[in-house]
Amino acid sequence: MKKELIQICLLVWSLVLGIEVSSQRDKEPTYKRGAALYQQHCASCHQSDGKGVTRLIPPLVGTDYVSGDKGRLIRILLQGLNEPIVVQEEEYYSPMASFQHLNDIQLADILSFVRTRFGSGASFVTPKEVQQQRKKLPK
Ligand code: HEC
Repeated sequence: MKKELIQICLLVWSLVLGIEVSSQRDKEPTYKRGAALYQQHCASCHQSDGKGVTRLIPPLVGTDYVSGDKGRLIRILLQGLNEPIVVQEEEYYSPMASFQHLNDIQLADILSFVRTRFGSGASFVTPKEVQQQRKKLPK
């Protein structure tokens, strides 16, 4: 009886582990594609480590723009940003161009990577969320 109980416990445990591993696997391609796209489109300014360039380019590490409201973050990429902003007590005011030419999946991949890597594991952004923000853009 005891042996059976142990067997059942092991079975449940391996099921739980299996589910965890497979959900990690689903996230891996997004993260990998996002990392490559980040290198291609963002790292020249925000740097590979996301720390930006003092007084010129704001950091992405630990900013509220990155880990906070997803809608605002998506709109920054769709519309660019050109207003004075304060990030970690430093003021920045130079324009960032829009990345509207990238598709919904590419933008979702980049932002999922950015939020995981620099936003201490904030949730992923889905292509649908990007699409919803794109629809709201002024024509
Ligand atoms: C040509 C340089 C340049 C590139 C390339 C660039 N940015 Fe920016 N980014 C800036 C600047 C400059 C600002 C500040 C804009 C302002 O002052 O209005 C900014 C602001 C931001 C902000 C809001 C502030 C913060 O630090 O959290 C986010 C988020 C952001 N960029 C993400 C990205 C992502 C993701 C990419 C790649 C798709 C990217 N940027 C590409 C220059 C750049």
